[in-house]
Amino acid sequence: MICLWDSQNSWDFSKPREPCGPEPAEAWAALGLSRPPPEAGPALHRARREVPPCLPPRVSLPPVLSRRCVHSKASVLGDPAPRGRPQEVEILDAKTREKLCFLDKVEPHATIAEIKNLFTKTHPQWYPARQSLRLDPKGKSLKDEDVLQKLPVGTTATLYFRDLGAQISWVTVFLTEYAGPLFIYLLFYFRVPFIYGHKYDFTSSRHTVVHLACICHSFHYIKRLLETLFVHRFSHGTMPLRNIFKNCTYYWGFAAWMAYYINHPLYTPPTYGAQQVKLALAIFVICQLGNFSIHMALRDLRPAGSKTRKIPYPTKNPFTWLFLLVSCPNYTYEVGSWIGFAIMTQCLPVALFSLVGFTQMTIWAKGKHRSYLKEFRDYPPLRMPIIPFLL
Ligand SMILES: NC(=O)c1ccc[n+]([C@@H]2O[C@H](COP(=O)([O-])OP(=O)(O)OC[C@H]3O[C@@H](n4cnc5c(N)ncnc54)[C@H](OP(=O)(O)O)[C@@H]3O)[C@@H](O)[C@H]2O)c1
Repeated sequence: MICLWDSQNSWDFSKPREPCGPEPAEAWAALGLSRPPPEAGPALHRARREVPPCLPPRVSLPPVLSRRCVHSKASVLGDPAPRGRPQEVEILDAKTREKLCFLDKVEPHATIAEIKNLFTKTHPQWYPARQSLRLDPKGKSLKDEDVLQKLPVGTTATLYFRDLGAQISWVTVFLTEYAGPLFIYLLFYFRVPFIYGHKYDFTSSRHTVVHLACICHSFHYIKRLLETLFVHRFSHGTMPLRNIFKNCTYYWGFAAWMAYYINHPLYTPPTYGAQQVKLALAIFVICQLGNFSIHMALRDLRPAGSKTRKIPYPTKNPFTWLFLLVSCPNYTYEVGSWIGFAIMTQCLPVALFSLVGFTQMTIWAKGKHRSYLKEFRDYPPLRMPIIPFLL
């Protein structure tokens, strides 16, 4: 019996096929069976419906026959590939379905990261960080650590490729995004020439709140830079290069806009004076401590060098108790810090920055909250994404 599988082509049921083997009854006879064995059960009926007639239904075949035919059936039925045997992997373009690569004899325990490395050998322009491999052209990207034999594929796995575009490391991204606002704000604070007019060059504001605001703003971004370098354990090494232009425009642009007004020679301190500033400073400091505590708690969930994701729970540190009520308390504290800064400076661009940041972080928090619910069945039901009991 000749097997139908051509390693370069998958099944196409729309095309008429040349008869290439005995009909099922003859196939059983050839195997010394008068009828399908009982264990074939429902899978057999499915196989009868789905497999072209020249393929024998799903049974254990003698080794000589089984090798290639089980291979074909497994692909057709979507059953996992037999364990321990080398597999074939074909990589198609997710948009055009054009075959880009055929990998022969891939070890079944190969990871997606290893398959990406093999693919890069034939297509060096797509280095692994640029590649997204999926089981479905429109589905989610497979994780680098996913193992071929654990995926729902046959002995010939079809993976769909998407180019993620040029990549840049996360650390570079964050350093660029956060160093910018720090530096830009200080240009306005020191009133370098060509900002406020000649007579104000390198002068200093007479309002205490302006100096306090500069300390708070600088502290915030220095903290973020240090956290990026020494606290966060990111699971993704890179992000698309184009994002950095968008993100820098947002962070740098808002920093310049806020700094321009706060350090302006005509700036007026907040309406309720020292009381308002003290209250705002307290909010800012508490939220910064809270944000840092959550980042430390998240770091402790993930052993160094791993990509583990766990449910975060409150620890002995009271700032982490917000985990009882929300999924992303670091965002809650971040928004709180900016609200504190807005109250302190009583400056419209700061209020707008807080609002835009809140909107963005709410979108992310909702996404993360949904992922937690999907990933962990025992996820605490009381939690909301970002605002306790509300949002
Ligand atoms: N002002 C603004 O507009 C703005 C906007 C966004 C962020 N931020 C600030 O930047 C900080 C970092 O932002 P982010 O979006 O990267 O925060 P994030 O997604 O909460 O992640 C912080 C770190 O914790 C890790 N992590 C998160 N959940 C985890 C879990 N369940 N198990 C193990 N590790 C986990 C993350 O790893 P992964 O790499 O796996 O995610 C990442 O390394 C925020 O907290 C906020 O202070 C500010």
